[in-house]
Parts: sequence; C-alpha cells; structure tokens
Amino acid sequence: MAIPRPTISLIVALFTLISLVESTSDTNNVFSPCVDASVQRSDGFTFGIAFAPRTSFFFNNSVQLSPCDRRLSLSSSTAQVAVFRPKVDEISLLTINTSNFFPGSVGGYMVAFAGRRYAARSIPAFVANDTFIVTSFTLVHEFRKGRLQNLYWKRDGCASCSGRSNFVCLNNQDCAIRTNNCRNRGGSVDCSLGIQLAFSGTDKHETVFNSWYEVKNLRQYSLFNLYSNLRDSLTGQYNRFF
Ligand SMILES: *[C@@H]1O[C@H](CO)[C@@H](O)[C@H](O)[C@H]1NC(C)=O
Ligand SMILES: *[C@@H]1O[C@H](CO)[C@@H](O)[C@H](O)[C@H]1NC(C)=O
Ligand SMILES: *[C@@H]1O[C@H](CO)[C@@H](O)[C@H](O)[C@H]1NC(C)=O
Repeated sequence: MAIPRPTISLIVALFTLISLVESTSDTNNVFSPCVDASVQRSDGFTFGIAFAPRTSFFFNNSVQLSPCDRRLSLSSSTAQVAVFRPKVDEISLLTINTSNFFPGSVGGYMVAFAGRRYAARSIPAFVANDTFIVTSFTLVHEFRKGRLQNLYWKRDGCASCSGRSNFVCLNNQDCAIRTNNCRNRGGSVDCSLGIQLAFSGTDKHETVFNSWYEVKNLRQYSLFNLYSNLRDSLTGQYNRFF
C-alpha cells in the first residue's frame, strides 16, 4: 500500500482486515490516508489510526489537528500508525494484534483520520494504560456526496458488559478489561483490538449508505460473533473467561 506523504512513518504491521462481502470494483485510486478521496459504493477507502498520548493530538494544547498535520510532529514521537482500506458501505471488523504491540506503551489513545483539505479526525479514544485496556470499538465514517465529513466512535454505554464482573465500565462508555488478564501481561486473554466499521451518509452519486442502519443495532462485541476465525481468539475466550 503506497503512502506518499504522511508526516507519520511508523506502521503497525500486525493488522488484518476482514470484509463480509467481496466487492467487485474499486474506482478510488487514493491510497494515502492523508490525501482527499471521493468515493462511491463498492470503492475501497483508505484511513489511518494513530496511537499516541492524548495530548500529542492537540496543537498548542488546544486545537485537535489531523495526525497528517505536520504541526503535531507525531513523526518524531513514539506514535504508531495503522492504515486500513475497507470497502465503503460494508460492515468490516478490523483487528490489531497486540501480541507485539501494546497501545498503552505508546500513550494509550487512538485517533482515526483521513483526508487533507477535508481532513476528518475522530476525537481521541482511550485504549489502554497500565491498568485497563478497551478492546472493542465501533467507528462510523460519515460521508456527504462521497467526501468524508466526520469520523466518530459509537459507544453503547457499557451495555455489552453490564453485570460481567471481569469488565470495568470506564466513564460510563467503554467496557475495559484489566491488563493483568492479558496474555502479554501474564494473563490468558488475547487483548487484541477489534474495530467494527460502518458507513453513513451518501456517496458521490448521492446513493445512501446502508451499513449504518445495520450497525445501529450492534453492540460492543456483536460483530465478533460473525467471524468464525475470530470467535475462538476473541469472543470464545471471553465466554470462557467471564
Ligand atoms: C498557544 O496558546 C497560547 C495560550 O492559549 C496563545 O497565547 C498562543 O498565541 C498560542 N500559540 C499559537 C502558535 O497558536
Ligand atoms: C495474535 O497473534 C498471536 C501470535 O501470533 C496469535 O496467537 C493470536 O491468535 C492472534 N490474535 C488474533 C486476534 O488474531
Ligand atoms: C487508567 O485509566 C483509568 C480510566 O481513565 C483511570 O481511572 C486510571 O487511573 C488509569 N490508571 C493509570 C495507572 O494511569
């Protein structure tokens, strides 16, 4: 995947992208998360997720900028970036394997981003610190006429973990696991990250995206059940563990 000129250079190599449906055509030739793209349904769309301390996403401690913006100087920090190319309007589950990468050790927050002139970035989401790790997220891409307008995290207010004693509800929005349960911290749980993607709005032909309506009904861990190869490594272990 060509990444012409992001200011950030480190790539988290250990990720996989799984789509529910194979798509036939991809007419989008923009492969950098720092360049603007205009998409139609069935195109691929490239975006990035940067991992860093919360403060490093803000310029002058006040304005949140895109990680592509050189003023943030993320490239000179320990920030890590993963780049993904899901199919537009297909529900996908991204996974980031944490067996060699612990988000807490690079600052613990992540921001999803894409575009340059029309730069969109999510607010920083807490992923992990020494005590807790949040392993499941839902990210919504909101488009208007094929241009990305907004990226935001959909939360379910801890509905998916209420009553489960091994989860901790942080800030009334995220189900977190104690890091000492994670495999790379001496426990038995694979604390890899799973990010469910959905698309809302319209493509460049003003066709309405549908995946948002499906994801509206999803809760924090619901998509994991659809992927048999992940069921064992992600969901199955939770059932055993909790
Ligand atoms: C940074 O923030 C301070 C205080 O809010 C302000 O006085 C200063 O002008 C800002 N600097 C830049 C480069 O924006
Ligand atoms: C992460 O990588 C480890 C080691 O390669 C593997 O055992 C584990 O199943 C992977 N987890 C996921 C969710 O892919
Ligand atoms: C980790 O994050 C949680 C939730 O924000 C916070 O309550 C806790 O104090 C943090 N722990 C450490 C060691 O930073």
